[in-house]
Amino acid sequence: MILVTGGAGYIGSHNVLALIEKGYDVVIFDNLELGHIETVGTLKNIDSKGKVVDFIQGDLQNFDDINSVFKKYKIDAVIHFAAYSQVGESVKDPQKYYFNNVYGTLNLLRAMLENDVKRIVFSSTAATYGEPVYVPIDEKHPQNPINTYGRTKLMIENILDDYDRAYGLKSVRLRYFNVAGADSKTRVGEWHEPETHLIPNILKSTFGGSKKFQMFGTDYDTKDGTCVRDYINVEDLAKAHIFALDYLEKGGETNYFNLGTTEGNSVKEVFKACEDVTGKEIPVDIMPRREGDPATLIADNTKAKNELGWTPEKTLSDSVKTAYAWESIRSI
Ligand code: UFG
Repeated sequence: MILVTGGAGYIGSHNVLALIEKGYDVVIFDNLELGHIETVGTLKNIDSKGKVVDFIQGDLQNFDDINSVFKKYKIDAVIHFAAYSQVGESVKDPQKYYFNNVYGTLNLLRAMLENDVKRIVFSSTAATYGEPVYVPIDEKHPQNPINTYGRTKLMIENILDDYDRAYGLKSVRLRYFNVAGADSKTRVGEWHEPETHLIPNILKSTFGGSKKFQMFGTDYDTKDGTCVRDYINVEDLAKAHIFALDYLEKGGETNYFNLGTTEGNSVKEVFKACEDVTGKEIPVDIMPRREGDPATLIADNTKAKNELGWTPEKTLSDSVKTAYAWESIRSI
C-alpha cells in the first residue's frame, strides 16, 4: 500500500492514476485546501488493476492526523506531494511555507519512523538550484535557492539526508522543472485557484469571460527575449515516480534526480504552441518582468535516464493538447 500525500492536487492526482494503473493500492491523504474532492471522487471510481483504498482528509501540521493513517494501514512507502508551491506567496508569507512544507514534512517523517516505514519519494524542485550558474542544470549544480519556497524544499532534502544517516530512512528526491499537461484521457488535470502557471493561463484566456493573457517580460537575454523553461509532461513525470518507488523497493540508496526534458522553450514559443493547438489567435498584453523569474531553466536529465531508466516521451505540443482538452471541459 502506497500513501500519497497531496493526492487530490495537480501532480499528486496524476501520480495516483499512474500508481493504480500499475496495480498499486493507494491511500490518499490531503487537507483539500488546494486539492479537490471532485478529483478524489474521479480517482476512486477508476476501474484499474490497483485502487484508491481510502481518502483521508487531514493536515500534516497535525501529527495525529497523519500518524493515524499509519496505524490504520500497512504502508509500504510514501510519495509526498503535499506542499505550498507558489514562489511569490512564499516570499510574502514565509511562515506559512515553513510551517506547512517543513513542519508538515517533519510530522510525516516522525509518523513514518514511529511506524517503521522507511521509504519515501519526495517532490522537490528546480527552485532548489536558484539562479543557474550554468545550463543545462545537472544534479551537481549548486543549490542556492533564491526564494522561500525553494528553501523549504532544500531544507527537506537536507533533513532527508540526516534521517537516512541516523535512522536508515531511504528517500528519492525528484527535482521537477516546469510540469505541464493533463491526463491524456482528461480524467484529471491542472486545477489551481488562482492559476499562476503559463500554459493554463494562456489557454484560459481563449475562453469567454476570462482575463487577457499577460506575458511577463520580453527583454531577457534569451533567444527571443522571453524566459526559457523546460516543460515536463505530467504523465511522464508520474512515470518517474513509479521508477523511483521501484528503485527504493529494490534496496536503492537515498538519491536525487532532475525531471525535465533537456529542451528549453521560451514563453513566446509556448504561446505559439497554444495558438497552433487551439487554432485561435490569442490576444496578449506585454507586461514588465515578474519578480524572481530566472531567464533560463533547463534540466540535464542524464542521471534519471541512467539510474532510474526513465525517459520522457511527450512533447510540449502533447502537453498543450491535453491541457486544452482539460480546460475545455472545465469551461463548459
Ligand atoms: N508567465 C507569463 N504569464 C503568466 C504566467 C507565467 O508570462 O500568466 C511566464 C513567467 O513569467 C515565466 C514562465 O511563464 O517566465 C513560466 O512561469 P510559470 O509560473 O508557469 O512557472 P515558473 O517557472 O515560475 O515556476 C515553476 C513552478 C514552481 C517552481 C519553478 C521552478 O511552478 O513551483 O518552476 O523553477 F518553483
